[in-house]
Amino acid sequence: MTTDTCIEFKDVVAGYKDFMILNNLSFKAKRGTITLLLGPNGAGKSTVLKALFGLLKPRQGDILLDGVSVAGASQKVLLAQGIAFVPQGRNLFGQLSVFENLELGGITLGMKTTHERIPEVLEFFPRVKQRLHSPAAALSGGEQKQLEIGRALLLRPKVILIDEPSIGLSPMVVADVFKLLRKLADQGTTVLMVEQNVKSALKISDEAIALESGRLVLQKPASELLADPNIERLFLGGAHTSAAPTTATV
Ligand SMILES: Nc1ncnc2c1ncn2[C@@H]1O[C@H](COP(=O)(O)OP(=O)(O)OP(=O)(O)O)[C@@H](O)[C@H]1O
Ligand SMILES: [Mg+2]
Repeated sequence: MTTDTCIEFKDVVAGYKDFMILNNLSFKAKRGTITLLLGPNGAGKSTVLKALFGLLKPRQGDILLDGVSVAGASQKVLLAQGIAFVPQGRNLFGQLSVFENLELGGITLGMKTTHERIPEVLEFFPRVKQRLHSPAAALSGGEQKQLEIGRALLLRPKVILIDEPSIGLSPMVVADVFKLLRKLADQGTTVLMVEQNVKSALKISDEAIALESGRLVLQKPASELLADPNIERLFLGGAHTSAAPTTATV
């Protein structure tokens, strides 16, 4: 292991019941970088994040965090190790206030520390800060996603796993979220992100990884992939989209 490797998947085989989704998956992500996970629907991208967050135990292989095996560790251990997960979709307690949602996010920290950190986190999200006592469900979709990210940041994580953060957000909010992730990475946080908004995500990422049927089919610097003339065909609706328009024939 090089000293700057933060996350390492080593020949990981993992799946649901008897159906294996990740097939001997190996990759490394360096500390303080953003790694973008790409691939068609069902390729196993979310499964990679779930396996790292202990929601899925690998059948074979290993998952290392800073060189130490965390495969199959409990979520309590993983949170204590500094891994935060912002899953796909909406994951708030809608009836509870913004403040209460943040309090719940800090449950492993204790109330005193949580209350000390909440104002720090809110500095990143001024719109959410103004709605502290509104029910979370009353926030816009973008504000809710920001609250979810804020809740993860309360833990001052060393690794952030974030699954399709741009869904349902306006381009301006997406730009803010991406800018924040870049800033966190520059400060040393390791980010593993799944995102379909490929071009914008590549612009703020360091490394790109593509999966197909749970196998690694590409790993290269994000800047290189961004400059690749095949990117449109590969990731923007060409080869991977069954709904891609077919050329009309006469
Ligand atoms: N809880 C589950 N039980 C059984 N199968 C599952 C479960 N979750 C996901 N799968 C299956 O695992 C495969 C990979 O799913 P995964 O969610 O990792 O894909 P993905 O690459 O994130 O796709 P998408 O782009 O649609 O989010 C899919 O075939 C999916 O149907
Ligand atoms: Mg997914």
